[in-house]
Amino acid sequence: MRFRMTGPSLVVDTPAKLNLHLEVLGRRADGFHQLETVMVSIGLYDTLTLTPADERIELDCHSGSVTRPEPLPPADDHNLILRAADRLQERTGCRSGARISLTKRIPMEAGLGGGSSDAAAALVGLNRLWGLGLSGHDLHEEAARLGSDVNFFLDSPRLAICRGRGEEIVPRPLRGPLWFVVVKPPGGLSTAAVFRELSLGSGDRRSCAAIVDAAADGNAAHCGRQVFNALESPARQLSVEVREVLRQLRSERLPGVALSGSGTACFGVCRNRSEARRAASRLRATGTSDVFVVQAAI
Ligand code: C5P
Repeated sequence: MRFRMTGPSLVVDTPAKLNLHLEVLGRRADGFHQLETVMVSIGLYDTLTLTPADERIELDCHSGSVTRPEPLPPADDHNLILRAADRLQERTGCRSGARISLTKRIPMEAGLGGGSSDAAAALVGLNRLWGLGLSGHDLHEEAARLGSDVNFFLDSPRLAICRGRGEEIVPRPLRGPLWFVVVKPPGGLSTAAVFRELSLGSGDRRSCAAIVDAAADGNAAHCGRQVFNALESPARQLSVEVREVLRQLRSERLPGVALSGSGTACFGVCRNRSEARRAASRLRATGTSDVFVVQAAI
């Protein structure tokens, strides 16, 4: 997350993520799934502009996509930004207002964490704007209530192992400029629907140790060989677009290809920027998907 002041406004750039590894360890009594996932922040950002206002909290959303207007989230009670603002007010009794403007570049229903990242930016940004003085621990408590991925974005580590529902974060080192090509087909997938489609076998679970070591070494070829996502099979069953995008990416002969989160975005790990750019221009030419060249970043 990056912050700057523009006049009275606090501007927050908040990143997307990719899951380099996602294993489902089991189903929990609360209906969620126990996960072990490795997430990397990438250089694709939404921007929140937070401006002090008297009492009301107003949100407007617009597309920041240069290629095509992104579908926008609803500016109503379901919006995680407004829910984050409500949580802060309820916890602290603060009655200040804010005008919040969201410039959306991270595609929705993509498995890229855009909604969670926006919620984390609202928690951290409004805590500053309103001078609430909540600690990191307080913000993590609120983040876990808002969604499973929100905690990761609060501190925006470059790389982290996330366990539990996804909210227990262990930052890990990431060396070297890892490059990715990310492909998001027009359709999206609901996370809940993908988890419902998952059949949990009783076989061995895959460890994330190898990919965490490869990332610490900054070794793109090793990272590529280790990428893994247990949600790929249910996402493929639900979305013909996911099947097609994975097929296209695999024909690029990159070090590794995987689904991110519950999809529909998929990515290829690239040896360097020029390999990512060459793959991106071929992938753009073949389909209707949005294609991004991104680096691991905060
Ligand atoms: O926490 P979040 O709102 O992102 O989760 C969306 C849905 O995904 C949940 O309602 C649940 O159905 C599913 N989910 C799950 N196990 C997780 C995370 C999400 O089953 N660890």
